[in-house]
Amino acid sequence: MFKNIIVTGGAGFIGSNFVHYVVNNHPEVHLTVLDKLTYAGNKANLAGLPEDRVKLVVGDICDKGLVDSLVKDADAVVHYAAESHNDNSLIDPTPFIQTNIVGTSVLINACRKYNVRFHHISTDEVYGDLPLREDLPGHGEGKGEKFTPDSPYRPSSPYSSSKASSDLLVRAWVRSFGLRATISNCSNNYGPYQHIEKFIPRQITNILSGIRPKLYGTGKNVRDWIHTNDHSRAVWTILTKGKIGETYLIGADGEKNNKEVLEMILEMMGQPKDAYDHVKDRPGHDLRYAIDATKLRTELGWKPEFTDFKTGLKHTIDWYTEHRDWWESQKAAVEAKYAKQGQ
Ligand code: NAD
Ligand code: DAU
Repeated sequence: MFKNIIVTGGAGFIGSNFVHYVVNNHPEVHLTVLDKLTYAGNKANLAGLPEDRVKLVVGDICDKGLVDSLVKDADAVVHYAAESHNDNSLIDPTPFIQTNIVGTSVLINACRKYNVRFHHISTDEVYGDLPLREDLPGHGEGKGEKFTPDSPYRPSSPYSSSKASSDLLVRAWVRSFGLRATISNCSNNYGPYQHIEKFIPRQITNILSGIRPKLYGTGKNVRDWIHTNDHSRAVWTILTKGKIGETYLIGADGEKNNKEVLEMILEMMGQPKDAYDHVKDRPGHDLRYAIDATKLRTELGWKPEFTDFKTGLKHTIDWYTEHRDWWESQKAAVEAKYAKQGQ
Protein backbone atom coordinates (compact mmCIF):
# COMPACT_ATOMS: atom_id res chain seq x y z
CA MET A 1 0.00 0.00 0.00
CA PHE A 2 2.88 2.40 0.73
CA LYS A 3 5.47 2.08 -2.05
CA ASN A 4 7.72 5.09 -1.28
CA ILE A 5 8.43 5.86 2.33
CA ILE A 6 10.68 8.57 3.75
CA VAL A 7 12.37 7.58 7.00
CA THR A 8 13.78 10.60 8.82
CA GLY A 9 16.66 9.79 11.17
CA GLY A 10 17.04 6.46 9.40
CA ALA A 11 20.80 6.37 10.03
CA GLY A 12 20.31 6.44 13.81
CA PHE A 13 19.76 3.56 16.22
CA ILE A 14 16.02 2.90 15.93
CA GLY A 15 15.43 4.43 12.49
CA SER A 16 18.06 2.19 10.88
CA ASN A 17 16.51 -0.86 12.54
CA PHE A 18 13.18 0.09 10.91
CA VAL A 19 14.90 0.48 7.53
CA HIS A 20 16.39 -3.04 7.82
CA TYR A 21 13.03 -4.39 8.98
CA VAL A 22 11.17 -2.97 5.98
CA VAL A 23 13.83 -4.05 3.46
CA ASN A 24 13.77 -7.60 4.85
CA ASN A 25 10.00 -7.96 5.16
CA HIS A 26 8.31 -5.75 2.57
CA PRO A 27 9.99 -6.20 -0.82
CA GLU A 28 7.59 -3.82 -2.60
CA VAL A 29 8.72 -0.77 -0.58
CA HIS A 30 11.37 1.80 -1.53
CA LEU A 31 12.85 3.89 1.24
CA THR A 32 14.41 7.34 1.27
CA VAL A 33 16.41 7.97 4.43
CA LEU A 34 16.61 11.68 5.27
CA ASP A 35 19.33 12.08 7.87
CA LYS A 36 21.63 14.94 8.83
CA LEU A 37 24.29 12.47 10.05
CA THR A 38 24.80 14.27 13.35
CA TYR A 39 27.16 12.68 15.90
CA ALA A 40 24.37 10.07 16.40
CA GLY A 41 23.86 9.18 12.75
CA ASN A 42 26.11 6.64 11.11
CA LYS A 43 26.17 5.49 7.48
CA ALA A 44 27.53 2.16 8.68
CA ASN A 45 24.09 1.44 10.20
CA LEU A 46 22.77 1.14 6.65
CA ALA A 47 25.67 -0.89 5.23
CA GLY A 48 24.79 -3.82 2.98
CA LEU A 49 21.29 -2.60 2.06
CA PRO A 50 20.35 -2.80 -1.63
CA GLU A 51 20.94 0.56 -3.38
CA ASP A 52 17.88 0.12 -5.57
CA ARG A 53 15.67 -0.09 -2.46
CA VAL A 54 17.26 2.42 -0.06
CA LYS A 55 18.50 5.90 -0.89
CA LEU A 56 20.31 8.02 1.70
CA VAL A 57 19.77 11.79 1.46
CA VAL A 58 22.09 13.63 3.83
CA GLY A 59 20.17 16.70 4.94
CA ASP A 60 18.30 18.50 7.69
CA ILE A 61 14.60 18.03 8.43
CA CYS A 62 14.52 21.79 9.13
CA ASP A 63 15.43 22.48 5.47
CA LYS A 64 12.00 23.32 4.04
CA GLY A 65 13.04 23.25 0.37
CA LEU A 66 14.69 19.85 0.68
CA VAL A 67 11.82 18.39 2.72
CA ASP A 68 9.22 19.65 0.22
CA SER A 69 11.14 18.21 -2.73
CA LEU A 70 11.24 14.76 -1.10
CA VAL A 71 7.77 14.66 0.45
CA LYS A 72 5.97 15.55 -2.78
CA ASP A 73 6.95 12.16 -4.29
CA ALA A 74 6.37 10.05 -1.15
CA ASP A 75 3.40 7.99 0.07
CA ALA A 76 4.36 8.19 3.74
CA VAL A 77 6.85 9.73 6.16
CA VAL A 78 7.99 7.86 9.26
CA HIS A 79 9.61 10.45 11.48
CA TYR A 80 12.42 9.24 13.76
CA ALA A 81 14.90 12.13 13.41
CA ALA A 82 15.56 13.82 16.72
CA GLU A 83 18.09 14.89 19.24
CA SER A 84 17.47 11.94 21.52
CA HIS A 85 19.69 12.07 24.63
CA ASN A 86 18.44 13.56 27.90
CA ASP A 87 21.93 14.25 29.27
CA ASN A 88 22.83 16.30 26.17
CA SER A 89 19.62 18.30 26.51
CA LEU A 90 20.67 19.28 30.02
CA ILE A 91 23.98 20.68 28.70
CA ASP A 92 22.49 22.53 25.70
CA PRO A 93 18.76 22.39 24.87
CA THR A 94 19.08 24.50 21.70
CA PRO A 95 19.40 21.74 19.07
CA PHE A 96 16.52 19.89 20.75
CA ILE A 97 14.19 22.82 20.18
CA GLN A 98 15.39 23.20 16.59
CA THR A 99 15.29 19.59 15.41
CA ASN A 100 12.53 18.15 17.57
CA ILE A 101 10.07 21.02 17.39
CA VAL A 102 10.94 23.13 14.32
CA GLY A 103 11.97 20.06 12.30
CA THR A 104 8.69 18.29 13.05
CA SER A 105 6.73 21.39 12.04
CA VAL A 106 8.55 21.51 8.68
CA LEU A 107 7.69 17.84 8.03
CA ILE A 108 4.01 18.07 8.95
CA ASN A 109 3.59 21.22 6.86
CA ALA A 110 4.99 19.38 3.86
CA CYS A 111 2.81 16.31 4.53
CA ARG A 112 -0.23 18.57 4.81
CA LYS A 113 0.64 20.29 1.53
CA TYR A 114 1.04 17.04 -0.42
CA ASN A 115 -1.54 15.00 1.58
CA VAL A 116 1.09 12.45 2.62
CA ARG A 117 0.57 9.94 5.46
CA PHE A 118 2.70 10.81 8.51
CA HIS A 119 3.77 8.63 11.44
CA HIS A 120 5.38 10.41 14.38
CA ILE A 121 7.81 8.49 16.57
CA SER A 122 7.62 9.72 20.13
CA THR A 123 8.54 8.61 23.60
CA ASP A 124 6.91 7.56 26.87
CA GLU A 125 8.86 10.40 28.52
CA VAL A 126 6.22 12.91 27.41
CA TYR A 127 4.11 11.55 30.30
CA GLY A 128 6.74 12.45 32.90
CA ASP A 129 7.43 9.78 35.50
CA LEU A 130 5.55 7.40 37.78
CA PRO A 131 6.23 6.63 41.44
CA LEU A 132 8.39 3.58 42.14
CA ARG A 133 6.26 0.47 42.67
CA GLU A 134 7.68 -0.02 46.17
CA ASP A 135 6.34 3.42 47.12
CA LEU A 136 2.80 2.63 45.94
CA PRO A 137 0.11 1.00 48.11
CA GLY A 138 -0.12 -2.72 47.18
CA HIS A 139 3.07 -2.31 45.10
CA GLY A 140 1.25 -0.56 42.28
CA GLU A 141 -0.98 -3.40 41.20
CA GLY A 142 -3.91 -0.97 40.90
CA LYS A 143 -5.20 1.57 38.42
CA GLY A 144 -2.90 4.30 37.14
CA GLU A 145 0.26 2.28 37.65
CA LYS A 146 1.31 2.56 33.99
CA PHE A 147 1.13 5.16 31.21
CA THR A 148 -1.89 4.91 28.90
CA PRO A 149 -2.77 7.00 25.83
CA ASP A 150 -4.92 9.13 28.18
CA SER A 151 -2.14 9.94 30.66
CA PRO A 152 -1.53 13.68 31.06
CA TYR A 153 1.52 15.25 29.42
CA ARG A 154 4.06 16.15 32.18
CA PRO A 155 7.52 16.12 30.56
CA SER A 156 10.50 16.76 32.85
CA SER A 157 13.58 17.43 30.73
CA PRO A 158 14.37 19.72 27.78
CA TYR A 159 14.46 16.56 25.63
CA SER A 160 11.10 15.20 26.74
CA SER A 161 9.42 18.60 26.64
CA SER A 162 10.63 19.10 23.06
CA LYS A 163 9.19 15.68 22.12
CA ALA A 164 5.94 16.54 23.92
CA SER A 165 5.76 19.81 21.96
CA SER A 166 6.19 17.93 18.68
CA ASP A 167 3.40 15.49 19.64
CA LEU A 168 1.07 18.41 20.31
CA LEU A 169 1.87 19.95 16.93
CA VAL A 170 1.01 16.67 15.19
CA ARG A 171 -2.28 16.39 17.11
CA ALA A 172 -3.21 19.96 16.17
CA TRP A 173 -2.36 19.38 12.47
CA VAL A 174 -4.63 16.32 12.47
CA ARG A 175 -7.52 18.20 14.03
CA SER A 176 -7.15 21.54 12.25
CA PHE A 177 -5.82 20.52 8.84
CA GLY A 178 -6.84 16.88 8.46
CA LEU A 179 -3.24 15.65 8.47
CA ARG A 180 -3.31 11.86 8.04
CA ALA A 181 -1.13 11.09 11.04
CA THR A 182 -0.63 8.61 13.85
CA ILE A 183 1.67 8.89 16.88
CA SER A 184 3.48 6.20 18.84
CA ASN A 185 5.08 6.65 22.25
CA CYS A 186 7.58 3.91 22.99
CA SER A 187 9.57 2.98 26.08
CA ASN A 188 13.36 2.50 26.34
CA ASN A 189 14.86 0.58 23.42
CA TYR A 190 17.90 -1.68 23.58
CA GLY A 191 19.77 -3.71 20.99
CA PRO A 192 22.67 -3.44 18.51
CA TYR A 193 23.69 -0.08 16.95
CA GLN A 194 22.62 2.04 19.94
CA HIS A 195 24.94 5.01 20.49
CA ILE A 196 27.41 4.41 23.31
CA GLU A 197 26.29 7.54 25.17
CA LYS A 198 23.16 5.57 26.24
CA PHE A 199 22.97 3.51 29.44
CA ILE A 200 23.24 -0.12 28.26
CA PRO A 201 25.87 0.30 25.50
CA ARG A 202 27.85 2.72 27.68
CA GLN A 203 28.22 0.11 30.42
CA ILE A 204 28.98 -2.77 28.02
CA THR A 205 31.66 -0.74 26.21
CA ASN A 206 33.04 0.52 29.53
CA ILE A 207 33.66 -3.07 30.61
CA LEU A 208 35.14 -3.94 27.20
CA SER A 209 37.45 -0.89 27.55
CA GLY A 210 38.58 -1.64 31.13
CA ILE A 211 36.54 1.29 32.55
CA ARG A 212 34.27 0.80 35.57
CA PRO A 213 30.54 1.18 34.71
CA LYS A 214 28.79 4.32 36.00
CA LEU A 215 25.43 4.27 37.79
CA TYR A 216 23.53 7.52 38.34
CA GLY A 217 22.32 8.14 41.90
CA THR A 218 20.93 5.12 43.75
CA GLY A 219 20.16 3.13 40.59
CA LYS A 220 16.54 2.67 41.74
CA ASN A 221 15.16 4.42 38.63
CA VAL A 222 13.07 2.06 36.51
CA ARG A 223 12.99 1.87 32.72
CA ASP A 224 10.60 -0.33 30.67
CA TRP A 225 12.93 -2.07 28.19
CA ILE A 226 11.87 -3.19 24.71
CA HIS A 227 14.07 -4.69 22.01
CA THR A 228 14.35 -2.34 19.04
CA ASN A 229 13.21 -5.12 16.61
CA ASP A 230 9.89 -5.22 18.46
CA HIS A 231 9.62 -1.43 18.20
CA SER A 232 10.12 -1.59 14.41
CA ARG A 233 7.41 -4.23 13.97
CA ALA A 234 5.05 -2.14 16.07
CA VAL A 235 5.69 0.98 13.97
CA TRP A 236 5.00 -0.93 10.74
CA THR A 237 1.77 -2.27 12.28
CA ILE A 238 0.62 1.24 13.25
CA LEU A 239 1.63 2.72 9.90
CA THR A 240 -0.36 0.14 7.97
CA LYS A 241 -3.24 -0.68 10.34
CA GLY A 242 -3.46 2.26 12.77
CA LYS A 243 -6.39 4.64 12.84
CA ILE A 244 -5.69 8.22 11.72
CA GLY A 245 -5.50 10.63 14.63
CA GLU A 246 -4.79 7.92 17.18
CA THR A 247 -1.91 7.56 19.63
CA TYR A 248 -0.51 4.10 20.37
CA LEU A 249 1.79 3.24 23.26
CA ILE A 250 4.51 0.68 22.55
CA GLY A 251 6.03 -1.37 25.36
CA ALA A 252 6.91 -4.96 26.19
CA ASP A 253 6.39 -5.19 29.98
CA GLY A 254 10.14 -4.92 30.54
CA GLU A 255 10.39 -2.91 33.77
CA LYS A 256 13.79 -3.16 35.47
CA ASN A 257 15.68 -0.78 37.68
CA ASN A 258 19.07 0.48 36.51
CA LYS A 259 20.99 -1.31 39.26
CA GLU A 260 19.42 -4.66 38.28
CA VAL A 261 20.30 -4.10 34.60
CA LEU A 262 23.87 -3.12 35.42
CA GLU A 263 24.33 -6.14 37.68
CA MET A 264 23.03 -8.41 34.89
CA ILE A 265 25.52 -6.90 32.43
CA LEU A 266 28.41 -7.32 34.89
CA GLU A 267 27.44 -10.91 35.64
CA MET A 268 27.04 -11.83 31.94
CA MET A 269 30.43 -10.26 31.19
CA GLY A 270 32.15 -12.26 33.95
CA GLN A 271 32.66 -9.33 36.37
CA PRO A 272 31.86 -9.05 40.10
CA LYS A 273 28.31 -7.69 40.59
CA ASP A 274 29.59 -4.64 42.49
CA ALA A 275 32.39 -3.62 40.08
CA TYR A 276 30.89 -0.22 39.24
CA ASP A 277 30.94 3.41 40.45
CA HIS A 278 28.02 5.45 41.76
CA VAL A 279 28.23 8.85 40.06
CA LYS A 280 26.36 12.15 40.22
CA ASP A 281 22.65 11.78 39.55
CA ARG A 282 20.97 13.29 36.47
CA PRO A 283 19.20 16.58 37.40
CA GLY A 284 15.42 16.06 37.39
CA HIS A 285 15.97 12.31 36.86
CA ASP A 286 12.63 10.61 36.06
CA LEU A 287 11.92 7.82 38.55
CA ARG A 288 9.96 5.25 36.63
CA TYR A 289 8.44 4.64 33.19
CA ALA A 290 5.94 1.85 32.48
CA ILE A 291 3.79 1.32 29.40
CA ASP A 292 0.33 -0.15 29.11
CA ALA A 293 0.31 -1.37 25.49
CA THR A 294 -3.20 -2.90 25.64
CA LYS A 295 -4.54 -0.73 22.82
CA LEU A 296 -1.77 -1.75 20.40
CA ARG A 297 -2.08 -5.40 21.38
CA THR A 298 -5.87 -5.69 21.26
CA GLU A 299 -6.80 -3.28 18.44
CA LEU A 300 -3.88 -3.94 16.07
CA GLY A 301 -2.78 -7.42 17.17
CA TRP A 302 0.90 -6.60 17.84
CA LYS A 303 2.89 -8.44 20.47
CA PRO A 304 6.59 -8.45 21.31
CA GLU A 305 8.84 -11.31 20.21
CA PHE A 306 11.67 -10.52 22.64
CA THR A 307 9.97 -11.42 25.90
CA ASP A 308 13.11 -12.58 27.69
CA PHE A 309 15.21 -9.50 28.51
CA LYS A 310 18.23 -11.59 29.52
CA THR A 311 18.43 -13.26 26.10
CA GLY A 312 18.09 -9.91 24.28
CA LEU A 313 20.72 -8.39 26.56
CA LYS A 314 23.11 -11.29 25.92
CA HIS A 315 22.76 -10.78 22.11
CA THR A 316 23.40 -7.06 22.61
CA ILE A 317 26.55 -7.70 24.68
CA ASP A 318 27.77 -10.14 22.02
CA TRP A 319 27.13 -7.57 19.28
CA TYR A 320 29.21 -4.83 20.98
CA THR A 321 31.93 -7.37 21.75
CA GLU A 322 32.10 -8.40 18.09
CA HIS A 323 31.78 -4.87 16.62
CA ARG A 324 34.48 -2.86 18.36
CA ASP A 325 35.19 -1.13 15.03
CA TRP A 326 31.68 0.37 15.16
CA TRP A 327 32.12 2.14 18.53
CA GLU A 328 35.77 2.21 19.62
CA SER A 329 36.80 5.44 17.88
CA GLN A 330 34.08 7.40 19.74
CA LYS A 331 34.65 5.97 23.22
CA ALA A 332 37.26 8.39 24.56
CA ALA A 333 35.29 11.50 23.53
CA VAL A 334 32.01 10.18 25.00
CA GLU A 335 33.68 9.38 28.33
CA ALA A 336 35.53 12.74 28.41
CA LYS A 337 32.18 14.54 28.01
CA TYR A 338 30.64 12.54 30.87
CA ALA A 339 33.70 13.08 33.08
CA LYS A 340 33.23 16.86 32.71
CA GLN A 341 29.73 16.47 34.20
CA GLY A 342 30.99 14.28 37.07
CA GLN A 343 29.33 11.25 35.51
P1 NAD B 1 19.53 8.47 17.66
O1 NAD B 1 20.07 9.66 18.39
O2 NAD B 1 20.27 7.19 17.68
O3 NAD B 1 19.29 8.85 16.12
C1 NAD B 1 18.75 10.06 15.71
C2 NAD B 1 19.00 10.21 14.20
O4 NAD B 1 18.41 11.44 13.78
C3 NAD B 1 20.48 10.27 13.82
O5 NAD B 1 20.74 9.45 12.71
C4 NAD B 1 20.71 11.74 13.48
O6 NAD B 1 21.74 11.95 12.54
C5 NAD B 1 19.34 12.14 12.94
N1 NAD B 1 19.08 13.58 13.05
C6 NAD B 1 19.22 14.36 14.15
N2 NAD B 1 18.90 15.64 13.86
C7 NAD B 1 18.51 15.66 12.56
C8 NAD B 1 18.03 16.67 11.68
N3 NAD B 1 17.90 17.93 12.10
N4 NAD B 1 17.71 16.33 10.43
C9 NAD B 1 17.85 15.05 9.98
N5 NAD B 1 18.29 14.05 10.76
C10 NAD B 1 18.62 14.34 12.03
O7 NAD B 1 18.05 8.30 18.21
P2 NAD B 1 17.20 6.98 18.48
O8 NAD B 1 17.50 6.49 19.83
O9 NAD B 1 17.33 6.09 17.32
O10 NAD B 1 15.73 7.61 18.52
C11 NAD B 1 15.00 7.79 17.32
C12 NAD B 1 13.63 8.34 17.65
O11 NAD B 1 12.95 7.48 18.54
C13 NAD B 1 13.65 9.71 18.33
O12 NAD B 1 12.59 10.47 17.82
C14 NAD B 1 13.42 9.39 19.79
O13 NAD B 1 12.80 10.46 20.46
C15 NAD B 1 12.51 8.19 19.68
N6 NAD B 1 12.54 7.24 20.81
C16 NAD B 1 13.72 6.70 21.23
C17 NAD B 1 13.72 5.75 22.24
C18 NAD B 1 15.01 5.11 22.72
O14 NAD B 1 14.99 4.35 23.67
N7 NAD B 1 16.16 5.37 22.10
C19 NAD B 1 12.52 5.35 22.81
C20 NAD B 1 11.32 5.94 22.37
C21 NAD B 1 11.34 6.86 21.35
O1 DAU C 1 11.92 6.19 27.54
C1 DAU C 1 12.30 6.41 26.23
C2 DAU C 1 13.58 7.22 26.20
O2 DAU C 1 14.63 6.32 26.59
C3 DAU C 1 13.88 7.82 24.84
O3 DAU C 1 12.89 8.79 24.56
C4 DAU C 1 15.27 8.48 24.81
O4 DAU C 1 15.56 8.91 23.50
C5 DAU C 1 16.30 7.45 25.24
O5 DAU C 1 17.57 8.05 25.30
C6 DAU C 1 15.92 6.86 26.61
O6 DAU C 1 16.01 7.88 27.63
P1 DAU C 1 16.65 7.57 29.08
O7 DAU C 1 17.11 8.85 29.64
O8 DAU C 1 15.77 6.70 29.88
O9 DAU C 1 17.91 6.64 28.59
P2 DAU C 1 19.45 6.58 28.99
O10 DAU C 1 20.03 5.43 28.26
O11 DAU C 1 20.12 7.89 28.87
O12 DAU C 1 19.37 6.23 30.54
C7 DAU C 1 18.66 5.09 31.02
C8 DAU C 1 18.72 5.14 32.54
O13 DAU C 1 20.06 4.88 32.98
C9 DAU C 1 18.34 6.47 33.15
O14 DAU C 1 17.63 6.25 34.34
C10 DAU C 1 19.68 7.14 33.45
C11 DAU C 1 20.57 5.96 33.78
N1 DAU C 1 22.01 6.07 33.43
C12 DAU C 1 22.33 6.52 32.17
C13 DAU C 1 23.66 6.58 31.78
C14 DAU C 1 24.05 7.09 30.41
C15 DAU C 1 22.98 5.67 34.33
O15 DAU C 1 22.68 5.24 35.48
N2 DAU C 1 24.28 5.72 33.94
C16 DAU C 1 24.67 6.16 32.71
O16 DAU C 1 25.89 6.16 32.42
